[in-house]
Amino acid sequence: MRKSHPAYTRRKFSLRWRGRRWYDPNERKLIWSTACMAALTLVARLAVMAVSALQEPTLAAGAIPVRGLVGTAHDLSATGPYKVTHSTETCTFCHTPHQAVSGINQAIPIWNHETTTTQFLMYSNATMKGVVDPQPLGPSLACLSCHDGTLAMGALHEAPPGGGNGDYSQAQGGGVNPGTGLMQGANTIGHDLTGVHPISMTYRDDLNKSLRHPTELVGVRLYPSNVSGGKVQCGSCHDPHNYGSAGGTAPFLRVTTQGSALCLSCHLM
Ligand code: HEC
Ligand code: HEC
Ligand code: HEC
Ligand code: HEC
Repeated sequence: MRKSHPAYTRRKFSLRWRGRRWYDPNERKLIWSTACMAALTLVARLAVMAVSALQEPTLAAGAIPVRGLVGTAHDLSATGPYKVTHSTETCTFCHTPHQAVSGINQAIPIWNHETTTTQFLMYSNATMKGVVDPQPLGPSLACLSCHDGTLAMGALHEAPPGGGNGDYSQAQGGGVNPGTGLMQGANTIGHDLTGVHPISMTYRDDLNKSLRHPTELVGVRLYPSNVSGGKVQCGSCHDPHNYGSAGGTAPFLRVTTQGSALCLSCHLM
């Protein structure tokens, strides 16, 4: 290939003396043009990478931080993968330091999101010893206030500074509708909880002997605390603040599902 290049076929005619060096203008041209092409290709590649980095939400498994919230699906700030509003804050979509929502039973700390008024279909089964609440209580209502798909991500009690509450024009990631700010797609749970592990339900290890004693619970939690009669909520299995890693505790789980460790944290089977 090198030999057949026109610059080489002319080589022997173009050698000339310049100072104390042999110098071939055609070869120099070839080296220069090769170097320029390589440099241009590199610049073009970098430009393509930069553009796609700007356009695509970085939700590839490896890119999601294992600990913490920033950069996960629960980071709805302008710098998060979802870019839902112009807000630079991440905690604000769920908590506020002032003017928190009060009155949700078993309230979650300083709650800032509007609370869903959906009527849910609750899990029921005669075999169960625990009692399921007629409607979900606070800690689960909190999750369902985004995950039932009826309230916009930015439907907040206190709008964050510069937050553009209701501006979803930058929404990315597919799970949030850029027009309405409502959740859409696979993570939308809706109003029918009959197919979800029972929640807002008392943990009666005293009546159901296949449940661990609450003092033996590791990783998982009951609400408001780990006692018989405490409640199983979405947050018993999920930690909304920590995404976890693929094959480990993702998505937002407190204990890995490997070997059914999560289930066996409560159930003695
Ligand atoms: C997607 C909603 C959501 C976001 C965003 C969020 N939290 Fe929470 N947070 C909750 C819920 C729900 C609870 C109730 C306890 C639980 O289920 O873990 C909670 C509880 C807490 C608690 C009490 C400790 C506990 O585990 O009970 C602290 C402290 C806290 N959050 C801090 C933060 C901080 C700081 C940020 C921002 C970096 C943040 N949260 C963002 C939903 C959220
Ligand atoms: C402020 C709104 C909001 C609240 C409150 C909220 N979430 Fe989410 N959650 C989201 C969004 C947005 C996504 C990403 C949706 C998508 O891409 O489909 C998400 C995704 C998830 C996922 C899937 C993540 C993945 O990548 O597979 C889980 C699990 C989850 N949330 C659990 C919870 C739990 C449990 C709670 C309550 C403790 C909760 N969420 C509260 C907005 C919320
Ligand atoms: C008993 C434990 C448990 C409870 C309680 C629970 N989840 Fe999950 N959830 C899981 C596990 C495990 C997964 C992962 C499923 C998988 O990867 O197939 C999951 C997955 C999810 C997902 C991802 C989408 C999907 O369906 O796989 C969302 C969103 C979610 N949960 C939200 C919630 C909300 C909201 C509640 C309360 C109404 C809740 N979860 C209650 C264990 C639980
Ligand atoms: C935080 C504790 C906890 C975790 C974690 C948990 N469960 Fe449960 N689960 C319970 C409680 C409490 C009940 C209600 C038992 C009763 O009242 O008799 C229940 C009920 C059930 C039922 C319904 C039984 C019936 O009679 O209808 C099934 C099935 C079940 N769990 C499976 C699972 C699986 C699978 C997992 C793992 C993905 C899991 N559980 C994780 C606490 C938990």
